[in-house]
Amino acid sequence: MVKGVILAGGTGSRLFPLTKITNKHLLPVYDKPMIYYPVKTLVSAGIRDILIVSGAEHAGDFLRLLGSGKEFGAKFTYEIQENAGGIADALRLAEGFSGGEKIVAILGDNIFEDNFAAHVMEFESGKSESAMVFLKKVPDANRFGVAELEGGKIKGIEEKPKKPKSDYAVTGLYFYPKSVFDAIKQLRPSGRGEYEITDVNNYYAKSGKIKANILKGFWSDAGTFDSLFRASEFVKQKKLQGF
Ligand code: DAU
Repeated sequence: MVKGVILAGGTGSRLFPLTKITNKHLLPVYDKPMIYYPVKTLVSAGIRDILIVSGAEHAGDFLRLLGSGKEFGAKFTYEIQENAGGIADALRLAEGFSGGEKIVAILGDNIFEDNFAAHVMEFESGKSESAMVFLKKVPDANRFGVAELEGGKIKGIEEKPKKPKSDYAVTGLYFYPKSVFDAIKQLRPSGRGEYEITDVNNYYAKSGKIKANILKGFWSDAGTFDSLFRASEFVKQKKLQGF
């Protein structure tokens, strides 16, 4: 079965002072800690062997909150990202855990309504060396990685463009073939000094090896005051089930 990794490092600086003494992913989204939602997204997609990457400072809190994973019907492994060097830098830490196989990565601050079980099955059984991402039409695309589309295919992705080439944000769920760790090794830090997940996705887009799916349900990040509030409101209204 394909393994999953939850990327929950980073500094959470956009939520300061909420993140002054705790980690963003431990903050509440309505009635559950934020990280419960990506856990739920993976487990309900059939992914049970899960690596959690966090910064060193709050790693003990993650362990106390999540434990072995038994309570969630999963098995958790933990890794420390020493410095918040970007999402691709955090993903790099999953190389050993992946055992040279495909991997599904999810951002710890992304809240999805969709169920991905069918996509995981398709991805797992496929022999293809392609990546898979999930797009959502949003009114504020400039906050995200934005897909440039041509005939339903991704031509390229721009990270937080001033003038987005579409309204389609690349959401924080990524299916990668085993070549992803070689792709990461070729990256250089971006202008903001981070190893960007968008550069990983463009590595696949360049050779036409990235599949785009459009999400049907609600999606939000929860890394700003407004998006955190929106995510909480959605969970309350729709009674999106955490564990
Ligand atoms: O939410 C989707 C968006 O997430 C994508 O559209 C963007 O392409 C992608 O770059 C990312 O944008 P953000 O600027 O919102 O990413 P942020 O820095 O908030 O990080 C999102 C999560 O990634 C965070 O909750 C934990 C993880 N992360 C981030 C960094 C910078 C790490 O694990 N380590 C890190 O060093």
